[in-house]
Amino acid sequence: MILKLNKIHKQYPSADNTEAVKVLENLNLEIHQKETVAIIGQSGCGKSTLLSLIAGLDSPTTGEVILDGQSLQTMNEETLAKYRSKQIGIVFQRFHLMPHLTALENVSLPLELSRQRNSQQQAAQTLETMGLGHRKNHFPHQLSGGECQRVAIARALVIKPALLLADEPTGNLDEKTGEKLSDILFDMVESISMTLLLVTHNHSLAHRCQRKLQLRDGSLHETMD
Ligand SMILES: Nc1ncnc2c1ncn2[C@@H]1O[C@H](COP(=O)(O)OP(=O)(O)OP(=O)(O)O)[C@@H](O)[C@H]1O
Ligand SMILES: [Mg+2]
Repeated sequence: MILKLNKIHKQYPSADNTEAVKVLENLNLEIHQKETVAIIGQSGCGKSTLLSLIAGLDSPTTGEVILDGQSLQTMNEETLAKYRSKQIGIVFQRFHLMPHLTALENVSLPLELSRQRNSQQQAAQTLETMGLGHRKNHFPHQLSGGECQRVAIARALVIKPALLLADEPTGNLDEKTGEKLSDILFDMVESISMTLLLVTHNHSLAHRCQRKLQLRDGSLHETMD
């Protein structure tokens, strides 16, 4: 799998419809299979925006997101949905768990949507890996912030995605739980040749990635920080 971002510009209309908010400007990126990349940058610089473009949840104002030679901008909704459900795991900054579904049901949902067998068992196993075997039947409002975060990660990983996009995956976790989680992520990179693109303020997590990129003034810059 090769992901390429070609001359991406992204702007949002301003709240009062005057001047547009320019977020990404002439951003380029190329990521190869099994690469691990950390994106860092100040609050509001456009990190979550960038992930949503790569996930095909939003479109760039101009420029292209190209996966294995095919531009997401040329795909119809159906193809795009297939791409997301089969190839991409997304951990949202605000989790987006389904409030009326239990932890187990949240994690098994992507498997059920793609009609896979044994979805409950696979979901249970993934939750177990996340240290949440004892919380399977809890609803999101009965879980702590860090537990919700781990359910969200389990839901992204259960489909064994070719590409995992993770927005602050350790944001709500203590150091020890955060490290355990990094071990799980990097094990998956090895075992299923997963490509990992994460946004993080966690230095030790960023350091474990092969590349560190800073998002600044709308584009990405290699950094050693
Ligand atoms: N739907 C939207 N409409 C208008 N402006 C938006 C929209 N989404 C984001 N923005 C603006 O775009 C900028 C980038 O937002 P984004 O969420 O990508 O930042 P971020 O780098 O993820 O920040 P943080 O580290 O705080 O999560 C912000 O200034 C934000 O206010
Ligand atoms: Mg963000």
